[in-house]
Amino acid sequence: MTERLKNKVTIITGAANGIGRVAAELFAREGAKVVISDIDPGGSQWADELRAQGLETFWHPCDVSDEDSVKSLISATLDHYGQLDVLYNNAGVEGGDGNLTKLTVDDWQRLTDANARGVFLMCKHAVPAMLDSGGGSVISTASVAALIGGPVLHIYSANKAAIISLTRSVAATYGRKGIRANTICPGFVGTDMVARLGENVLEAGAKMSLLGRGAEPHEIAQVALFLASDEASYITGVAIPVDGGVTAV
Ligand SMILES: NC(=O)c1ccc[n+]([C@@H]2O[C@H](COP(=O)([O-])OP(=O)(O)OC[C@H]3O[C@@H](n4cnc5c(N)ncnc54)[C@H](O)[C@@H]3O)[C@@H](O)[C@H]2O)c1
Repeated sequence: MTERLKNKVTIITGAANGIGRVAAELFAREGAKVVISDIDPGGSQWADELRAQGLETFWHPCDVSDEDSVKSLISATLDHYGQLDVLYNNAGVEGGDGNLTKLTVDDWQRLTDANARGVFLMCKHAVPAMLDSGGGSVISTASVAALIGGPVLHIYSANKAAIISLTRSVAATYGRKGIRANTICPGFVGTDMVARLGENVLEAGAKMSLLGRGAEPHEIAQVALFLASDEASYITGVAIPVDGGVTAV
């Protein structure tokens, strides 16, 4: 086993399920000290299971849309590990799609709170801790939906585009102070989120991919691992499609 993230203190939001859950294990196996965080208390058990395997993890609940909750996550991380090197903004919610004229302001608010506002609050409070730690890497999660026009994903797409822009502005503002910031734009990934969208969604996504299939969660987490590591030391300000070629045609 290599240790590509040796001793890097890493916060992963939305790490109780899906891509974040897989990333938590992957990062910890590469030597990171992983703060597993989620609004879902099931993340606590996941942190325990990984620790029982000898991996370095720490659970702290956080609703990324709530500023006090975000502040509590950052201070708990600093209390426990003394520094912050990597922030993986993975938490997100689906929805806000369908008939534009039927969508409500409440739909807009619910999605925007968890997605764009969540990344804003996490960056706002994590960046000072990363600067104090000598720099670091921010990885945010957008979507292929932010890169191509889609007929139905109105609010979700807009939120994910905001996340790309915000992450790029973090890169521009803090690059000379040692912080890199990049966004991953996944295509269709086999998680509960896609299952909730409907049983045909992954199948439809597979047809759009040049590889003829949807992604496994680890195929997204592996890119996050690379961006978190020093192997990506000259990569900042980009939005990387990890979409099986959906945006290539
Ligand atoms: N699955 C896909 O096809 C796909 C495609 C493109 C982008 N993404 C993005 O990838 C990320 C992970 O998605 P996933 O497929 O693993 O979904 P998932 O639903 O399996 O996991 C998302 C996690 O985020 C958590 N979460 C939701 N709201 C939160 C909040 N306010 N604060 C803290 N945690 C919160 C959930 O509890 C959950 O554990 C999301 O940002 C999603 O938008 C997923």
